[in-house]
Amino acid sequence: MKTKDIVLRELEKNRANYISGQELAEKLNISRTAIWKAINSLKESGFQIEAQTKLGYKLLETDDKLSEEGIRKGLREELKDIDIIVFDEIDSTNTEAKRRLYSSEVKDFTVIVSDMQRGGRGRTGKTFKSPKGSGVYFSIILHPKEFFDFSFFDLITVKAAVSVLQGIKESTGKEPQIKWVNDLFLKGKKICGILSELDADFESRSVKSVIVGIGINVNKPEDDSFKELKDIAGYIETDTIRNEILSSILNAFYENNYRKKDHEIIDYYKKHSLVIGRELSFELNGKKYSAKGIDINEKGNLIVDTGEEKITISSGEVSIKGDFYEKA
Ligand code: BTN
Repeated sequence: MKTKDIVLRELEKNRANYISGQELAEKLNISRTAIWKAINSLKESGFQIEAQTKLGYKLLETDDKLSEEGIRKGLREELKDIDIIVFDEIDSTNTEAKRRLYSSEVKDFTVIVSDMQRGGRGRTGKTFKSPKGSGVYFSIILHPKEFFDFSFFDLITVKAAVSVLQGIKESTGKEPQIKWVNDLFLKGKKICGILSELDADFESRSVKSVIVGIGINVNKPEDDSFKELKDIAGYIETDTIRNEILSSILNAFYENNYRKKDHEIIDYYKKHSLVIGRELSFELNGKKYSAKGIDINEKGNLIVDTGEEKITISSGEVSIKGDFYEKA
């Protein structure tokens, strides 16, 4: 671990409180000059650190730079040893996850995070806008020794959507809704998208690894990246720092994946669904339909009623008709 990361870990532990150079040097068993250099290097890479003679250094409460130390601090005990790799910028965290899967040993529940993505990818080949400093873009690699069966994958995106919702609610107090199958909406606008990808073996019908890619618009970016998307893209709009939002989501994802029963997750998903009870339009096998969303089954499939028949949809997109955001 680099000296600046060790120093950052200490500052993070004492966030918003001063810690003197002397105390840091003694605790970490390094010289005060090394501490001073580490602090300068952290400041240069964008951390908001205040220095006061006699008092020492403090990481400001409002500092919102993503960091491994900051994310790790909020993680539950079971996740304390996971690998977390943080980038200032990258093409796409899902693409980076794939590169790593094919080139090295990757631990189960490895998390790759970036402050911005140059080539964020969405579903059906779309791009996903990922401007700097305002969102959180990350991929979780699930890569156990035993192969997953394909059935495991049925619910993974549902679990991810539920976890993002719970993590956002716990850390910010805001309560988004889920638009089938895996978009999160707040005040009628999309704030999160999820792209899950597989490394599978077709012969044995088994999944070797799963990459769950999640992109969240936390606050409005300073630039005008979302100008053309202003009617559909929203933001959480919160003072909660991104490290904290991310740890809460990872904690919830662990709980939902390894502790909760599938039916509990589906129940939660249904309670927060934006499509159940609403008039929807969609296309299936080249035919256009209008129908009411009535249920989500145990596999996370959407069941709709056209008035003449009930249809179960397992993939694709649905649109909600009319103005579905009821302003309070
Ligand atoms: C969608 O809304 O269509 C899905 C968007 C998924 C975006 C996330 S951001 C992190 C990860 N890396 C990517 O390139 N895509 C996913």
